Formats: sequence, structure tokens, C-alpha cells
Amino acid sequence: MFTQSSLASLMAIWLKTAYWWRYIHFSFPVAIGLAISFNISNNFFLVGFILFAVLYWSVFLTQVPYYPLQKGVCESVTTLLPNQERLKVIDIGSGLGGFCMKFVNLRPGSIVHGIEIAPLPWLISYLRGRVAASPAKFTLGNYHQLDFAEFDIVFAYLSPAVTLDLWQKASKEMRPKTLLVSHEFPIPNIQPTQSFGATKHGKITYVYAMR
Ligand SMILES: C[S@@+](CC[C@H](N)C(=O)[O-])C[C@H]1O[C@@H](n2cnc3c(N)ncnc32)[C@H](O)[C@@H]1O
Repeated sequence: MFTQSSLASLMAIWLKTAYWWRYIHFSFPVAIGLAISFNISNNFFLVGFILFAVLYWSVFLTQVPYYPLQKGVCESVTTLLPNQERLKVIDIGSGLGGFCMKFVNLRPGSIVHGIEIAPLPWLISYLRGRVAASPAKFTLGNYHQLDFAEFDIVFAYLSPAVTLDLWQKASKEMRPKTLLVSHEFPIPNIQPTQSFGATKHGKITYVYAMR
């Protein structure tokens, strides 16, 4: 088992994958060995697989997994927005729906949408919205299929893997003076119009006013 772990880690180093893969490859054969020795039922792994599949879905393609937005970000975003009555806002990758539901409470009258590609987070956001009778609307889908021209604010909490692609889509489709807001991940080589540290973890939110 130790030989297999070491070989897998060495291959990860040789293939120049991100550094954490060498630890994952090392621990995998060990984990399999332990699981076999504990005689765990196969159903346990099947349930685990299904749960992770509906939670993370096409993360191997999108490279954006689910992780929650920190407290306070939505509040900070709403304070810097224009006092326009009916802002049309979308959270692309809306996860469990926290940002959208908070936004619509803080800025009643806004039209707030969330779009989420993974079925489980989307279902949870949909049910949360129904239970709370929230006017926020949640759609299961891929934000690439949206036309950003429909929105005054596009909020994104995604990953560095997609920021450039997001910028290209936003600059092609968004109307002048509308805002692209990217939490934690700045657009490389583009100067934000404004940025602020919203969380106690010091994560910065970047605001880009479109031209
Ligand atoms: C970091 S989480 C965002 C959390 C969320 N905004 C919140 O308020 O907690 C990123 C989410 O984006 C989703 N996602 C990734 N690529 C997507 C795509 N192309 N279209 C829609 N959702 C996507 C992921 O499934 C994940 O749930």
C-alpha cells in the first residue's frame, strides 16, 4: 500500500499537477485499505457518491465547486449600489441561495435571480425560497446560457479558473454603467472600479463598472 501511495504521489509531482494532488494521491490507497479492513457496506460508498455527485455535479468541467459565501458580503454589496428602485440582479452560481434571499430583503423591490448548475444546491435554494416566501427566483442551469444584458448587477463568487472567461462574457454583453461584482477573485489585469474587504477573513470584493 505504501509503495502504491508513494508511486501515485511521485507521478503527481512528475506530471506537475497542483501540489495538493500529491497528498490526495498518497492518502487514497491508504483510505481504500482502511475501508476494506473495516468491512464497510458498499451502500455507504454508493450513497456518498450520489451525494457528492448532486452537490458538485459538473465541477470537473466548470472548476467551480460549491462553498458558502461568508457573512456580511451581501450587506456590503448593497450599500454601494445606486438607489435605483428596481435593480435587476443575478447571482451566477447561487449555491444554497443565501446571497439572493438576503439581497431581496435588504433591497425590496429589486428583481433578484439566482442560477445554479448543481442539482442539490439548486433544490435547497428553491425550497428555501418557497418556505420563506422569498421573491428571489432560482433556476437550475448554466450561466453561460444567460444574456448578461438583462441585468444591472451580476454577482459572482466562482473561482480563479473562470474569471477571464467571465470578464469576456461580461464585457461583451453587459450594458454601460452596469456592475460586475466578483467576490474574492479579481479579474486578472483589469483595474476594479472599487474594491472592499467585506469579511472578517479579509476576503475582498471587486466591483467593475462596465463601459
Ligand atoms: C462558491 S459557490 C457560490 C455560493 C453562493 N453564491 C452563495 O451565496 O453561497 C459557486 C457555485 O457556482 C456553481 N457554478 C459553477 N459553475 C456554474 C455555471 N457555469 N453555471 C451556474 N452555476 C455554476 C457551483 O455549482 C457552486 O454552487
